[in-house]
Amino acid sequence: MAKNRRSNYKCQTCGYSASRWFGRCSGCDEWNTCVEELNVEKDQRRSHLVSTSSRPQLQSITEVGTNDFERLDVGISEFDSVLGGGIMPGSVVLVGGDPGIGKSTLLLQVAGQLAGDGLNVAYISAEESAVQIHQRADRLGALCKDLKVMSETNLTLIMDQITADSPTAVVIDSIQTVYMPELESAPGSVTQVRECAARLVYWAKESGIPVFLVGHVTKEGTVAGPRVLEHLVDTVLYLEGERHHHFRILRAAKNRFGSTNEIGIFEMREFGLSEVSNPSEILLAERAEDVAGSSVVCSIEGTRPLLVEIQALVSRSAFGYPQRVSTGIESKRLSIIIAVLEKRCLHDLSGEDIFVNVVGGMRLDEPAADLAVGLAIISSFRNISIGTKTIVVGEIGLGGEIRPVSQVERRVAEARSLGFERCLVSSNNLKGWKHPKDMEVIGVGGLEAAEELIFA
Ligand code: TYD
Ligand code: MG
Repeated sequence: MAKNRRSNYKCQTCGYSASRWFGRCSGCDEWNTCVEELNVEKDQRRSHLVSTSSRPQLQSITEVGTNDFERLDVGISEFDSVLGGGIMPGSVVLVGGDPGIGKSTLLLQVAGQLAGDGLNVAYISAEESAVQIHQRADRLGALCKDLKVMSETNLTLIMDQITADSPTAVVIDSIQTVYMPELESAPGSVTQVRECAARLVYWAKESGIPVFLVGHVTKEGTVAGPRVLEHLVDTVLYLEGERHHHFRILRAAKNRFGSTNEIGIFEMREFGLSEVSNPSEILLAERAEDVAGSSVVCSIEGTRPLLVEIQALVSRSAFGYPQRVSTGIESKRLSIIIAVLEKRCLHDLSGEDIFVNVVGGMRLDEPAADLAVGLAIISSFRNISIGTKTIVVGEIGLGGEIRPVSQVERRVAEARSLGFERCLVSSNNLKGWKHPKDMEVIGVGGLEAAEELIFA
């Protein structure tokens, strides 16, 4: 068979490309991910990510004008703060998340909000019909004449339309379902996703119009298609949460225009996503009184303190290989905490199944939650309650020592405002600040001491 020089072989997982077929990708070591793709014409591959209208010139950094970068406030403060204070002109924001988590809902609300302020917004759906979008917008209270919708999958037609209409912001739902007719590969393939995104990025930079892209997430938890997509866009936001819980957390994984540690907390209601301004209160609302295996930690998510309940269940395993299951805490972290409990506190957990759950579908990455996890496990194992008025904050070291955490004052203040009376922290955390009088703050050096104190 004659070789087609216009085609190329590409890994569907990582985008690695080769001129010959391969069984195992040299880029990511995956098997059977190779797909033949057509080469894209050179001139279509525009790589300018920043618009260069005039001749490039070096200039002093102090002379760089910032006036052009007037951010656009959406008016949904949780969303604005995750973006770093509103939408940057010409920025491209990728919103990723599991199917059904609420990406379309969120962006339709954002679009509706902007349109409500009299701005012309284009909401393009490649997944739903205009009637479906209308129905949803009706439910969300986003029916507004400045919100223009279109149901289309052909990106060339979409771009013609948005170029002619020149809206204030564009939403494309989703980047995996739009396609460029010049390319033969299917929508959602590496080539299509990357080329479509690159076109839109170029368009956004040239026009100064912000573009929001919805991206689906694979089972592994990354935006489907090539990772290249994450490098192309300015901001990557993930909408997370347990599908069966009503909490949704919007987190920035990358942000060229702001910090990545800000989060937005929403609640999915019958009329769409609503902002949650007092998350701690809601997260603790369903807490049972005096139950063994429950502890409360004050975690700092982004810039705000959040009180979260951690539940543990330790029960005798029926099998030789006990289970360790965690939701909301990294399973490696859990293994380390269990190992320290066995070694330092001399609990024999080798025959016990251990389940740990962060209530409300929250995810805690912070090591400050270690002590709360450890004490919840001990509490369940010994069947003694920690007490409802105590919070614990601290990182557990491998030697069983409790390490200090950052911003302890704010954590204690948050706990106090919700009626907690006792706080267990690392003894190294006691220096340099004065705790409130009506709050008992106890410093401990190690895990054994913490156990003794709590379960005395
Ligand atoms: P959707 O935005 O379609 O998810 P995605 O675009 O991420 O796939 O969200 C759909 C889910 O949200 C669906 O399960 C129903 C729920 N939902 C509500 O609970 N209330 C609402 O007002 C809306 C619009 C959706
Ligand atoms: Mg959707």
